[in-house]
Amino acid sequence: MRSIKDEPNLNQKKVLLRLDLNVPLSEGKITDTTRIDKILPTINFLLKYGTKIIILSHVGRPNGKIEKTLSLKPICENLKIKLNQNIELISKNLKEVKSEDLFNSHDQKIVILENLRFYEEEEKNDNVFAKHLASLADIYVNDAFSCSHRAHASISEITKFIPSYAGLQFNLEIEALTKITSEIKKPITCIIGGSKISSKINIIKNLIPKFDNIIIVGGMANNIIKYKGYEIGKSIQENGCEQIIEEIFFLSKKESCKIIFPEDVAVGKSLNGSPEIKELNNILKDELILDIGPKTIKTINQLIEKSSTILWNGPAGYFENSKFANGSVEIAKKIVEKNKNNAIYSVAGGGDTVALLNILETTNHFNFVSTAGGAFLEYLEGKELPGIKALN
Ligand code: 3PG
Repeated sequence: MRSIKDEPNLNQKKVLLRLDLNVPLSEGKITDTTRIDKILPTINFLLKYGTKIIILSHVGRPNGKIEKTLSLKPICENLKIKLNQNIELISKNLKEVKSEDLFNSHDQKIVILENLRFYEEEEKNDNVFAKHLASLADIYVNDAFSCSHRAHASISEITKFIPSYAGLQFNLEIEALTKITSEIKKPITCIIGGSKISSKINIIKNLIPKFDNIIIVGGMANNIIKYKGYEIGKSIQENGCEQIIEEIFFLSKKESCKIIFPEDVAVGKSLNGSPEIKELNNILKDELILDIGPKTIKTINQLIEKSSTILWNGPAGYFENSKFANGSVEIAKKIVEKNKNNAIYSVAGGGDTVALLNILETTNHFNFVSTAGGAFLEYLEGKELPGIKALN
C-alpha cells in the first residue's frame, strides 16, 4: 500500500482526500470533534507540500437523498477555524461539478464537497460516479480508515481511475491494529454495543472463535432479549435477526466463547425520560430499553477483572442522555482501574465510544483508541477491508 508520506512529488497537485468526518451532530452542532482533530496533521502535511485539497466525506445515513440536517456545513465551519483557511463547501450537484469550477479564488487551498451519501451512487460503488470524482484531481488519498469496511465509490471504485495512497491517520490505525492483533493476550473480552445493529450483528459470528467472552449491550442486545422471549417495548431493534442469533449461540457453545447479554435493564418512556431499573420479564409495551442494569454491570465488571485484553466498540446505552450513561460509565471506570495497574490491554473504537470516553476524560487511560467502529470490528474478523484492498 503506497503511503502519501512516501510520495516525493506533491507540489501543485490537486488531491482528493477521503476523510471520515462522520461526527456526532445535535441540532446542527458538532458534539465531538475527535474525527476532525485526528485528520488535521494530514491536511497540514498536504498544505505544507503545496497541494490543493478537495475533501470528500459522508455524514450520517441519508440513503441517497439530500437531508439538510446532514450537511457538512458545520464541519466545514469547524475546519475553517481550526486550520485558519478559507474553505468553500461545494453544495451544487456533485455529478455536474468540474475541475475548473474549483479553487476559483487564488488564496483557496481547500474545498469540501457536500455529503457524498446525498448521492445513491456513492453506496452503490458506482463506476461512473467514482470516475467523475477522480476526474477532479491528480491523486487520491484515503485517510478514512473508519470507512474502509464500506465498498463505496469514494473508498473502493475510485482507486481504479487515479493514483491512490493511504493517508497518515490511515497508516497509524493499521500499524496499531496490526500490532494489537498479533500480540493479543488471552483471555480476550470483546464488548459490542451502540445502535448500528445491522452493521455489527453479522460480524459477531466470525469473532466467536477468536475471543473468550463477547458481551453484547446497546441496541443489538434488544434483539437478543426479544429472541429469548421477553417484551422489548418500543426499543430499537433489527428485523429478521433470529437465524443469526441462533447461529451465534450455537457457535459460542462449540467454540467455548461465552456470550453475555443484559440480565436487567434501565428503561425509559422516551429518550429524554428518566430511568427505571427492570428485570427482563417486567418491560412494558410503551417502554424503551436505554441502558443496562446493575446486575449486568456487576457481571461485566467481573469478566473485565478476569481478562487480559479488552476490546470495546459501542456504548452500553443511550449515553447522549446522561441518565442512561451509567452502564457505559461503569464499564469505562472498570477498564481504567485495571489499566492503571497495567493489568489489562485495552482498545476502544468507534465514533460514539470515542465521544463517550472524551466526556468521561478517560481517552488517555486506554492503550489505543481507534476512530473506527465497524471497520475496527471487521478488521478484527481478519477480513481484508474493501478500502485496504482497493489501495493494495
Ligand atoms: C462510522 O461511523 O463507523 C463510519 O463513518 C461509517 O459509517 P456507516 O456505518 O454509516 O457506514
